[in-house]
Amino acid sequence: MKQLSDNIWYVGVNDRDKERFECLWPLPYGVSYNSYLVTGDRTALIDTVDSRFFPQFLAEVRAVLGNRPVDYLVINHMEPDHSGSIALVRSVWPDVCLVGNKKTLAMVQGYYGQAAPVLEVGEGSTLELGGPALQFTLTPMVHWPETMMTLETGSMTLFSGDAFGCFGSLDGGVLDTELPLQHYWTEMVRYYSNIVGKYGQQVQMALRKLGGTQLGMVCSTHGPVWTEHIAQVVDVYNRLSLYEGRPGATLVFGSMYGNTALMAESVAEGLVQGGVKDFTMHKLSRTDLSYLIADAFTYKGLLLGAPTYNNGLYPLMQEYVNELQGRLLKNRLVGCFGSFTWAGQAVRRLQEFATQPGMELVGQPVEMKQGFTAETAAQCRQLGLDMAHRLTEEA
Ligand SMILES: Cc1cc2nc3c(=O)[nH]c(=O)nc-3n(C[C@H](O)[C@H](O)[C@H](O)COP(=O)(O)O)c2cc1C
Ligand SMILES: [Fe+2]
Ligand SMILES: [Fe+2]
Repeated sequence: MKQLSDNIWYVGVNDRDKERFECLWPLPYGVSYNSYLVTGDRTALIDTVDSRFFPQFLAEVRAVLGNRPVDYLVINHMEPDHSGSIALVRSVWPDVCLVGNKKTLAMVQGYYGQAAPVLEVGEGSTLELGGPALQFTLTPMVHWPETMMTLETGSMTLFSGDAFGCFGSLDGGVLDTELPLQHYWTEMVRYYSNIVGKYGQQVQMALRKLGGTQLGMVCSTHGPVWTEHIAQVVDVYNRLSLYEGRPGATLVFGSMYGNTALMAESVAEGLVQGGVKDFTMHKLSRTDLSYLIADAFTYKGLLLGAPTYNNGLYPLMQEYVNELQGRLLKNRLVGCFGSFTWAGQAVRRLQEFATQPGMELVGQPVEMKQGFTAETAAQCRQLGLDMAHRLTEEA
């Protein structure tokens, strides 16, 4: 428990056990499930935590409230990392009024069989707590249909749900001013690209709704509470949701027996010769997809290389391309290369990806039959150089 202002408290928990968020995305730094308590004449909890942490959560809330009950539970988001303790909260405080929009309340009924007392709120609705007051903004598909944000209008504190969130537990502090922030910035890109990435347009709509609101504090459901870095956090979410990439590159390749790997080395040499210093290089079978997706969202340049496999694309590359397409990634410069032994497919498939609307094919795709030659090496270096030149124009 930590007091954030006269009447706002942090009552969230750290999860240092879960290996993969949503059983998909690695959590090397853990994750926090943030919940907040707003206290006036009446009390309101904003979201809950994963049900495995309910005993700790209950202790945190009781440490603030003592014998006072929770009067309202505001549900900004129904993903079970936040909604999981709703029924348990009701079992402790049976009269707690559940606050949500129409879609939320239907989901609460469906998941947890919870009905009245509820308070249905819509865009701009307010809830007076006797002192602090809450105002609600609907932000559908950031990243579920029912998602909304709650503003405490006295202190201009925004409870933003998953928006502005990041992976990483809160180690010894809660505020951005008291934590070493470095890894949260990279974990923010990974959280955004992995979880929210498909919904750039909806994030943009939410940002437009918030536009002009002078925020004092941003309380997301994951990661630090933002006070001094609000503009920076909003800027990160703005650029990511516009699918803007930095003028660097990520080179992602697959290789079973090392031939396509030799191509990748030559492409990287070309990039470096062309003066690109801001780039990453990953072998698909070594780096988790989560980081590869994050780098595709980070960089403007995408260099993809893979062998042909069963008359198709090497499976790990197919999965990667599917994940990028599924997230509607666009505004990217794409170079491609690949290999085959008897009938090539990989380069053709990568080229299809590189020529979709919103993508620009850079350089000549390089296709290698069987062994690596000096000629292939030169073509690959040229591909890296072409990408470097195109990136220089973007910088
Ligand atoms: C299981 C398997 C399936 C393959 N399927 C094809 C194929 O359909 N067409 C083809 O031309 N080459 C095929 N190949 C050959 C590979 O494309 C070739 O080994 C590869 O280009 C070598 O690159 P690498 O050394 O980077 O793995 C296949 C190879 C394996 C191991
Ligand atoms: Fe979520
Ligand atoms: Fe979440």
